[in-house]
Amino acid sequence: MASPAIEDQSVRVRVAGKINLTLRSGPRRADGYHSLATVFQAVSLFDEIEAAPAEPGEFTVTMHGDQADQVPTGADNLAIRAARLLAKEVDHEDAGVNLVIRKSIPVTGGMAGGSADAAGALLACSVLWDLDITPDELRVFGAQLGADVPFCLAGGTALGTDRGDRLVPVLSRGSYHWVLAFSDRGLSTPAVFGKFDELGCGAGTLEPPEDLLNALVSGDPVALGKALANDLSEAALALRPDLGRVIETGLELGAIGSIISGSGPTVAFLAPNESAAVDLSVALSGSGACHGVRRVTGPVPGARLLG
Ligand code: C5P
Repeated sequence: MASPAIEDQSVRVRVAGKINLTLRSGPRRADGYHSLATVFQAVSLFDEIEAAPAEPGEFTVTMHGDQADQVPTGADNLAIRAARLLAKEVDHEDAGVNLVIRKSIPVTGGMAGGSADAAGALLACSVLWDLDITPDELRVFGAQLGADVPFCLAGGTALGTDRGDRLVPVLSRGSYHWVLAFSDRGLSTPAVFGKFDELGCGAGTLEPPEDLLNALVSGDPVALGKALANDLSEAALALRPDLGRVIETGLELGAIGSIISGSGPTVAFLAPNESAAVDLSVALSGSGACHGVRRVTGPVPGARLLG
Protein backbone atom coordinates (compact mmCIF):
# COMPACT_ATOMS: atom_id res chain seq x y z
CA MET A 1 0.00 0.00 0.00
CA ALA A 2 1.30 3.47 -0.90
CA SER A 3 2.40 5.76 1.94
CA PRO A 4 0.13 8.76 2.74
CA ALA A 5 2.85 11.07 1.33
CA ILE A 6 2.71 9.28 -2.01
CA GLU A 7 -1.08 9.19 -2.00
CA ASP A 8 -1.10 12.96 -1.45
CA GLN A 9 0.82 13.45 -4.66
CA SER A 10 -1.61 11.49 -6.78
CA VAL A 11 -3.70 13.26 -9.41
CA ARG A 12 -7.34 12.44 -10.14
CA VAL A 13 -9.10 13.15 -13.41
CA ARG A 14 -12.69 12.60 -14.54
CA VAL A 15 -13.54 11.94 -18.20
CA ALA A 16 -16.97 11.71 -19.84
CA GLY A 17 -18.17 9.18 -22.38
CA LYS A 18 -19.60 10.37 -25.70
CA ILE A 19 -22.52 9.71 -27.94
CA ASN A 20 -22.60 10.56 -31.65
CA LEU A 21 -25.64 12.65 -32.56
CA THR A 22 -24.85 12.10 -36.21
CA LEU A 23 -22.20 10.04 -37.95
CA ARG A 24 -21.64 10.25 -41.69
CA SER A 25 -18.95 7.96 -43.06
CA GLY A 26 -17.18 7.78 -46.40
CA PRO A 27 -15.60 4.58 -47.73
CA ARG A 28 -12.48 2.92 -46.30
CA ARG A 29 -9.29 4.87 -47.03
CA ALA A 30 -5.81 3.57 -47.83
CA ASP A 31 -4.82 3.97 -44.14
CA GLY A 32 -7.70 1.67 -43.07
CA TYR A 33 -9.71 4.52 -41.56
CA HIS A 34 -12.94 6.10 -42.83
CA SER A 35 -13.39 9.84 -43.33
CA LEU A 36 -16.17 10.99 -41.04
CA ALA A 37 -18.40 13.93 -40.34
CA THR A 38 -19.67 13.27 -36.86
CA VAL A 39 -21.18 15.42 -34.14
CA PHE A 40 -20.08 14.22 -30.73
CA GLN A 41 -21.75 15.10 -27.46
CA ALA A 42 -20.06 14.34 -24.12
CA VAL A 43 -22.57 12.94 -21.62
CA SER A 44 -22.55 12.60 -17.83
CA LEU A 45 -21.22 9.07 -17.60
CA PHE A 46 -17.68 9.26 -16.27
CA ASP A 47 -14.55 7.18 -15.84
CA GLU A 48 -12.16 8.29 -13.11
CA ILE A 49 -8.42 8.00 -13.60
CA GLU A 50 -5.98 8.34 -10.72
CA ALA A 51 -2.26 8.71 -11.43
CA ALA A 52 0.18 8.04 -8.57
CA PRO A 53 3.98 8.37 -8.59
CA ALA A 54 5.98 5.26 -9.50
CA GLU A 55 9.62 4.29 -9.96
CA PRO A 56 11.23 5.38 -13.24
CA GLY A 57 10.12 3.03 -16.01
CA GLU A 58 7.29 1.53 -13.95
CA PHE A 59 3.91 1.79 -15.71
CA THR A 60 0.99 -0.10 -14.17
CA VAL A 61 -2.79 0.06 -14.31
CA THR A 62 -5.47 -1.37 -12.03
CA MET A 63 -9.06 -1.45 -13.26
CA HIS A 64 -12.18 -1.24 -11.08
CA GLY A 65 -15.85 -1.50 -12.07
CA ASP A 66 -18.33 -4.11 -13.30
CA GLN A 67 -16.52 -4.67 -16.58
CA ALA A 68 -12.96 -4.31 -15.25
CA ASP A 69 -12.13 -7.91 -16.21
CA GLN A 70 -12.80 -7.11 -19.90
CA VAL A 71 -9.99 -4.54 -20.15
CA PRO A 72 -6.37 -5.65 -20.74
CA THR A 73 -3.99 -4.36 -18.06
CA GLY A 74 -0.72 -5.02 -19.89
CA ALA A 75 1.27 -2.85 -22.28
CA ASP A 76 -1.66 -2.69 -24.73
CA ASN A 77 -3.94 -0.96 -22.20
CA LEU A 78 -4.79 2.36 -23.84
CA ALA A 79 -4.15 4.39 -20.67
CA ILE A 80 -0.70 2.80 -20.25
CA ARG A 81 0.01 3.48 -23.91
CA ALA A 82 -1.04 7.10 -23.36
CA ALA A 83 1.28 7.49 -20.36
CA ARG A 84 4.23 5.92 -22.22
CA LEU A 85 3.59 8.01 -25.34
CA LEU A 86 3.50 11.22 -23.29
CA ALA A 87 6.76 10.33 -21.51
CA LYS A 88 8.41 9.63 -24.86
CA GLU A 89 7.10 12.77 -26.57
CA VAL A 90 8.41 15.05 -23.82
CA ASP A 91 11.66 13.06 -23.30
CA HIS A 92 10.80 12.39 -19.65
CA GLU A 93 13.29 9.59 -19.06
CA ASP A 94 12.51 9.08 -15.36
CA ALA A 95 8.78 8.83 -15.93
CA GLY A 96 6.68 6.18 -14.23
CA VAL A 97 3.09 6.00 -13.06
CA ASN A 98 0.64 3.74 -11.26
CA LEU A 99 -2.79 4.31 -12.76
CA VAL A 100 -6.08 3.32 -11.13
CA ILE A 101 -9.18 3.50 -13.35
CA ARG A 102 -12.75 3.34 -12.10
CA LYS A 103 -14.83 2.50 -15.14
CA SER A 104 -18.45 3.43 -15.66
CA ILE A 105 -18.35 3.93 -19.44
CA PRO A 106 -19.18 0.59 -21.10
CA VAL A 107 -16.31 -1.41 -22.59
CA THR A 108 -16.53 -1.64 -26.43
CA GLY A 109 -19.90 0.08 -26.09
CA GLY A 110 -19.59 2.77 -28.77
CA MET A 111 -19.10 5.48 -26.13
CA ALA A 112 -15.30 5.91 -26.40
CA GLY A 113 -14.59 4.22 -23.06
CA GLY A 114 -11.00 3.28 -23.96
CA SER A 115 -10.33 6.67 -25.54
CA ALA A 116 -11.68 8.38 -22.40
CA ASP A 117 -9.18 6.49 -20.27
CA ALA A 118 -6.35 7.43 -22.65
CA ALA A 119 -7.44 11.09 -22.48
CA GLY A 120 -7.63 10.92 -18.69
CA ALA A 121 -4.18 9.32 -18.45
CA LEU A 122 -2.66 12.02 -20.70
CA LEU A 123 -4.09 14.82 -18.55
CA ALA A 124 -3.35 13.13 -15.20
CA CYS A 125 0.26 12.28 -16.13
CA SER A 126 0.91 15.76 -17.53
CA VAL A 127 -0.03 17.15 -14.10
CA LEU A 128 1.69 14.41 -12.08
CA TRP A 129 4.94 14.95 -13.98
CA ASP A 130 4.51 18.74 -13.85
CA LEU A 131 4.87 19.09 -17.62
CA ASP A 132 4.68 22.40 -19.40
CA ILE A 133 2.23 21.32 -22.06
CA THR A 134 -0.73 22.95 -23.81
CA PRO A 135 -4.19 21.42 -24.36
CA ASP A 136 -3.49 21.48 -28.12
CA GLU A 137 -0.30 19.44 -27.65
CA LEU A 138 -2.22 16.92 -25.54
CA ARG A 139 -4.80 16.66 -28.34
CA VAL A 140 -2.08 15.98 -30.93
CA PHE A 141 -0.69 13.17 -28.73
CA GLY A 142 -4.22 11.91 -28.15
CA ALA A 143 -4.90 11.59 -31.88
CA GLN A 144 -1.96 9.18 -32.13
CA LEU A 145 -3.71 6.86 -29.66
CA GLY A 146 -7.21 6.81 -31.13
CA ALA A 147 -9.55 8.88 -33.27
CA ASP A 148 -11.89 9.67 -30.33
CA VAL A 149 -9.20 10.72 -27.84
CA PRO A 150 -9.08 14.41 -28.87
CA PHE A 151 -12.84 14.70 -28.32
CA CYS A 152 -12.59 12.99 -24.92
CA LEU A 153 -10.08 15.68 -23.91
CA ALA A 154 -12.27 18.51 -25.23
CA GLY A 155 -15.83 17.40 -24.35
CA GLY A 156 -18.91 19.55 -24.98
CA THR A 157 -20.46 19.27 -28.42
CA ALA A 158 -18.13 19.20 -31.44
CA LEU A 159 -17.99 18.32 -35.09
CA GLY A 160 -15.28 15.75 -35.84
CA THR A 161 -13.95 15.37 -39.39
CA ASP A 162 -11.13 13.38 -41.03
CA ARG A 163 -10.92 10.29 -38.76
CA GLY A 164 -13.20 12.09 -36.29
CA ASP A 165 -10.14 13.65 -34.64
CA ARG A 166 -10.20 17.11 -36.25
CA LEU A 167 -12.57 19.06 -34.06
CA VAL A 168 -14.52 22.28 -34.20
CA PRO A 169 -16.94 23.20 -31.43
CA VAL A 170 -20.64 23.15 -32.33
CA LEU A 171 -22.97 25.76 -30.88
CA SER A 172 -25.45 23.95 -28.66
CA ARG A 173 -28.02 25.53 -26.36
CA GLY A 174 -29.40 23.93 -23.23
CA SER A 175 -29.00 20.48 -21.80
CA TYR A 176 -30.41 17.28 -23.29
CA HIS A 177 -31.84 14.37 -21.34
CA TRP A 178 -30.79 10.94 -22.57
CA VAL A 179 -31.51 7.39 -21.50
CA LEU A 180 -28.74 4.97 -22.42
CA ALA A 181 -29.57 1.32 -23.05
CA PHE A 182 -26.55 -0.90 -22.45
CA SER A 183 -25.95 -4.29 -23.97
CA ASP A 184 -24.70 -7.41 -22.19
CA ARG A 185 -21.75 -7.59 -24.62
CA GLY A 186 -19.67 -5.20 -26.69
CA LEU A 187 -19.28 -4.68 -30.43
CA SER A 188 -15.88 -4.39 -32.11
CA THR A 189 -15.50 -1.05 -33.91
CA PRO A 190 -13.29 -2.50 -36.69
CA ALA A 191 -15.88 -5.29 -37.21
CA VAL A 192 -18.71 -2.73 -37.58
CA PHE A 193 -16.68 -0.64 -40.04
CA GLY A 194 -15.84 -3.90 -41.88
CA LYS A 195 -19.55 -4.73 -42.16
CA PHE A 196 -20.20 -1.14 -43.28
CA ASP A 197 -17.71 -1.67 -46.16
CA GLU A 198 -19.21 -5.06 -47.02
CA LEU A 199 -22.75 -3.64 -47.19
CA GLY A 200 -21.59 -0.59 -49.16
CA CYS A 201 -23.42 1.70 -46.74
CA GLY A 202 -23.02 5.44 -46.36
CA ALA A 203 -24.89 8.57 -47.25
CA GLY A 204 -22.34 9.64 -49.81
CA THR A 205 -22.17 13.03 -48.13
CA LEU A 206 -19.71 14.14 -45.52
CA GLU A 207 -21.68 17.12 -44.28
CA PRO A 208 -23.38 17.05 -40.90
CA PRO A 209 -27.15 17.35 -41.42
CA GLU A 210 -28.24 21.01 -41.34
CA ASP A 211 -31.41 20.16 -39.40
CA LEU A 212 -29.29 18.66 -36.62
CA LEU A 213 -27.07 21.75 -36.33
CA ASN A 214 -30.17 23.99 -36.35
CA ALA A 215 -31.81 21.89 -33.64
CA LEU A 216 -28.71 22.25 -31.44
CA VAL A 217 -28.53 26.02 -31.97
CA SER A 218 -32.18 26.43 -31.01
CA GLY A 219 -31.98 23.95 -28.13
CA ASP A 220 -34.99 22.06 -29.48
CA PRO A 221 -35.04 18.42 -28.30
CA VAL A 222 -37.95 17.44 -30.56
CA ALA A 223 -36.11 18.67 -33.66
CA LEU A 224 -32.89 17.04 -32.43
CA GLY A 225 -34.70 13.73 -31.92
CA LYS A 226 -35.82 13.77 -35.55
CA ALA A 227 -32.35 14.68 -36.87
CA LEU A 228 -30.30 11.92 -35.16
CA ALA A 229 -28.63 9.80 -37.87
CA ASN A 230 -25.85 7.21 -37.95
CA ASP A 231 -24.42 5.66 -41.13
CA LEU A 232 -23.07 2.75 -39.04
CA SER A 233 -26.55 1.71 -37.83
CA GLU A 234 -27.21 -0.74 -40.65
CA ALA A 235 -23.87 -2.47 -40.09
CA ALA A 236 -24.30 -2.58 -36.31
CA LEU A 237 -27.84 -3.99 -36.73
CA ALA A 238 -26.59 -6.58 -39.22
CA LEU A 239 -24.13 -7.82 -36.58
CA ARG A 240 -26.55 -7.40 -33.69
CA PRO A 241 -30.16 -7.71 -34.93
CA ASP A 242 -31.34 -7.79 -31.29
CA LEU A 243 -30.65 -4.03 -31.10
CA GLY A 244 -33.69 -3.50 -33.36
CA ARG A 245 -35.99 -4.58 -30.54
CA VAL A 246 -34.19 -2.32 -28.05
CA ILE A 247 -34.75 0.67 -30.35
CA GLU A 248 -38.41 -0.22 -30.96
CA THR A 249 -39.05 -0.63 -27.25
CA GLY A 250 -37.53 2.75 -26.33
CA LEU A 251 -39.53 4.54 -29.01
CA GLU A 252 -42.76 2.79 -27.96
CA LEU A 253 -42.07 3.89 -24.38
CA GLY A 254 -41.98 7.58 -25.35
CA ALA A 255 -38.45 8.46 -26.56
CA ILE A 256 -38.50 11.33 -29.05
CA GLY A 257 -35.48 9.99 -30.88
CA SER A 258 -32.97 7.16 -30.77
CA ILE A 259 -29.51 6.51 -32.06
CA ILE A 260 -26.94 3.72 -31.87
CA SER A 261 -23.92 5.46 -30.40
CA GLY A 262 -20.89 5.26 -32.72
CA SER A 263 -20.36 1.64 -33.66
CA GLY A 264 -22.73 0.47 -30.90
CA PRO A 265 -24.11 -1.49 -29.20
CA THR A 266 -25.17 1.25 -26.73
CA VAL A 267 -28.43 2.89 -27.82
CA ALA A 268 -29.14 6.48 -26.73
CA PHE A 269 -32.77 7.57 -26.37
CA LEU A 270 -33.67 11.24 -26.20
CA ALA A 271 -36.38 12.43 -23.82
CA PRO A 272 -38.11 15.83 -24.05
CA ASN A 273 -37.29 16.77 -20.45
CA GLU A 274 -35.96 15.41 -17.16
CA SER A 275 -39.19 13.93 -15.82
CA ALA A 276 -39.88 12.18 -19.13
CA ALA A 277 -36.33 10.77 -18.97
CA VAL A 278 -36.99 9.41 -15.47
CA ASP A 279 -40.21 7.74 -16.69
CA LEU A 280 -38.49 6.35 -19.77
CA SER A 281 -35.55 4.94 -17.82
CA VAL A 282 -37.88 3.20 -15.34
CA ALA A 283 -40.07 1.77 -18.12
CA LEU A 284 -37.11 0.67 -20.26
CA SER A 285 -35.47 -0.95 -17.28
CA GLY A 286 -38.71 -2.81 -16.49
CA SER A 287 -39.16 -3.93 -20.10
CA GLY A 288 -36.16 -6.26 -19.94
CA ALA A 289 -35.24 -5.22 -23.50
CA CYS A 290 -31.68 -4.33 -22.55
CA HIS A 291 -29.00 -5.29 -20.05
CA GLY A 292 -28.85 -1.98 -18.18
CA VAL A 293 -30.18 1.55 -18.31
CA ARG A 294 -28.63 4.86 -17.29
CA ARG A 295 -30.01 8.37 -17.37
CA VAL A 296 -27.47 11.04 -18.40
CA THR A 297 -27.38 14.64 -19.60
CA GLY A 298 -25.24 16.36 -22.18
CA PRO A 299 -23.25 18.25 -23.11
CA VAL A 300 -20.72 18.07 -20.25
CA PRO A 301 -17.02 19.06 -20.25
CA GLY A 302 -14.20 16.73 -21.32
CA ALA A 303 -11.26 15.54 -19.19
CA ARG A 304 -11.07 17.57 -15.96
CA LEU A 305 -8.90 17.52 -12.84
CA LEU A 306 -10.72 16.57 -9.64
CA GLY A 307 -9.89 18.58 -6.53
O1 C5P B 1 -8.85 5.18 -33.72
P1 C5P B 1 -9.32 3.93 -33.04
O2 C5P B 1 -8.18 3.02 -32.69
O3 C5P B 1 -10.21 4.19 -31.88
O4 C5P B 1 -10.21 3.18 -34.11
C1 C5P B 1 -10.53 1.82 -33.98
C2 C5P B 1 -10.82 1.23 -35.34
O5 C5P B 1 -12.06 1.77 -35.83
C3 C5P B 1 -9.82 1.54 -36.42
O6 C5P B 1 -8.75 0.64 -36.40
C4 C5P B 1 -10.68 1.40 -37.67
O7 C5P B 1 -10.84 0.03 -37.99
C5 C5P B 1 -12.02 1.91 -37.22
N1 C5P B 1 -12.20 3.34 -37.56
C6 C5P B 1 -12.38 3.71 -38.90
N2 C5P B 1 -12.53 5.03 -39.21
C7 C5P B 1 -12.55 5.98 -38.27
C8 C5P B 1 -12.40 5.64 -36.91
C9 C5P B 1 -12.23 4.30 -36.59
O8 C5P B 1 -12.39 2.85 -39.78
N3 C5P B 1 -12.72 7.26 -38.62
